[in-house]
Amino acid sequence: MSAIAAETPSLFRIFWPPLRVSQTRTPSTPPLPPRLTPTACHGAASLFRAAARAEQIHAANHARVIGILGGQAEAEIHPVEVKSTLENLKAALNGEQYEIDTMYPGFLQEATERKNTAAIRTFHGALEAEKTHARLYAEAIALLAAGKKDSWIGEARDFYVCPICGYTSETEEEHERCPVCNCPWERFEIIR
Ligand SMILES: [Fe+2]
Ligand SMILES: [Fe+2]
Repeated sequence: MSAIAAETPSLFRIFWPPLRVSQTRTPSTPPLPPRLTPTACHGAASLFRAAARAEQIHAANHARVIGILGGQAEAEIHPVEVKSTLENLKAALNGEQYEIDTMYPGFLQEATERKNTAAIRTFHGALEAEKTHARLYAEAIALLAAGKKDSWIGEARDFYVCPICGYTSETEEEHERCPVCNCPWERFEIIR
């Protein structure tokens, strides 16, 4: 194993996104407590689902590069603390901002110094998606804080996620191809 491969697991450790609640709940699951009862924030829920799908794609891409380097991706599953929708959105925005300002720039710098084009590609794709997630979370926070539940945060809506790089768009015909990885638009996943 090369020196780079030996360092890989700690260098590019990734955090797997939680599974969708809808995939894990069964009919025998106890009813949700009152604070989790669906309210008029279905659009925000759609955004969370789209962002989670994008993070899933990022995780798989990062893991693939780790495998190419001879390492094995490790998952650290942290407990999820579910609060109000506004608090959840703010927590998500803080996470994205850290990844945009600190985490991915650091990863990209190291990957660039090592001339690892596969790592550069997956980190760049993730970084671009996180910027869109941050913008959408910030927009949802502003709308919710202003009590505008008659806006897009109130109704379930479609988001579009690139299956290759995780780029996330809220507009159906924004592009003919993914602006990050050039994937054809018709291959995008519709997440609602
Ligand atoms: Fe994200
Ligand atoms: Fe893409």
